[in-house]
Amino acid sequence: MSIEPHGGVLVDRIAEESEKESLKSKAGRMEQIHLNPREISDLEMIAIGAFSPLEGFMGKEDYLNTLDFMRLAHGSPWTIPVTLSVTKKESERLKEGEDIALLDQQGNVLGCLHLQEKYEYDKKREAEQVLRTVDEAHPGVKYLKGIGDVLLGGKITLLERPKHSDLFARFRLDPKETRVLFNLKGWKRIVAFQTRNPIHRAHEYIQKCALETVDGLLIHPLVGETKGDDIPADVRMKCYEVLLKSYYPKNRTVLSIFPAAMRYAGPREAIFHAIARKNYGCTHFIVGRDHAGVGNYYGTYDAHYIFDEFDREELGITPMFFDHTFYCRSCSGMASTKTCPHDSSHHVSLSGTAVRTMLSRGEIPPFEFTRPEVAEVLINSMRSQR
Ligand code: ADX
Repeated sequence: MSIEPHGGVLVDRIAEESEKESLKSKAGRMEQIHLNPREISDLEMIAIGAFSPLEGFMGKEDYLNTLDFMRLAHGSPWTIPVTLSVTKKESERLKEGEDIALLDQQGNVLGCLHLQEKYEYDKKREAEQVLRTVDEAHPGVKYLKGIGDVLLGGKITLLERPKHSDLFARFRLDPKETRVLFNLKGWKRIVAFQTRNPIHRAHEYIQKCALETVDGLLIHPLVGETKGDDIPADVRMKCYEVLLKSYYPKNRTVLSIFPAAMRYAGPREAIFHAIARKNYGCTHFIVGRDHAGVGNYYGTYDAHYIFDEFDREELGITPMFFDHTFYCRSCSGMASTKTCPHDSSHHVSLSGTAVRTMLSRGEIPPFEFTRPEVAEVLINSMRSQR
């Protein structure tokens, strides 16, 4: 028996083959709107049930409850707005009660919105509540500034899956598929690992510590939109592949993509990431230091503390917390601030900038920091970009 999805039912908003053609031909006569990359990925996440119990883009009540109480209107924990915006002018031609065609930037119809309500919202308030900052240097605040002033709420139907790089096709498993896979493998306790970076030794260490106590590990890299200076998802996937080949037990590890967009909302996003992984059938979720953080907007362990604000039963997935981890020369192994008695002069720690500089020079960072196979993939990708 798999773990229950959030809200009890795994949402499926993908059109049946039979209704697909008729909806597609009707879409030509509907009002049309173009979605940005985050909205496209939200559309897919909703449709495949990864955002269960959401069946569409949020209406006002769910939106405001999420902002103020970290819950949906009916009470389930929920921390991140999942919204669809248009400009005021665009909103004037959209009528509540009608179906709206949802298009990508190239004009392909991806799905329909059954428009239930349109409403204005306060971007500053959303930034303060969700991102805990209104600083425009924060990628989430910048995003909010760039989108329309009216939100559209209503259920969606997905007609076409958004296009992903071919490299991802092999790694694409929807929540209903990971659930079947875990059952086939006989795994009852599954830990998920969220990441938007190439796996370094600290990642590997916390994954393996977690795996020591459960049946299986889902490495679940986020491949939706990330900020420009994060390593592109296809390069990261290559890193994960080489790493898995040599250092992970095949019968206990699954690598699959998480097609969500990154919000950089730190603590609130940790809860959101955990809930989504519950929908994929995972029972445990790794939360390390500064989870989903950016810059210095969040305290190192804020993403741990936020879990205290929820009842574990209602969250339904168990967080596994890890302190800051590193290689310690005196311990001769990976350790964390919790387990290592030595001060930082004993630790191998490199800033992201230092690593990038080394890689761009073709230098392999110390093995205590990153596996050479991963460094090679990163060096090659930097070379091919020149
Ligand atoms: S994140 O935005 O997806 O959180 P990243 O891919 O860097 O970024 O981190 C993936 C997971 O590993 C997160 O749970 C993060 O907290 C954790 N993590 C990353 N580096 C470390 C580290 N050195 N020590 C402990 N946890 C870490």
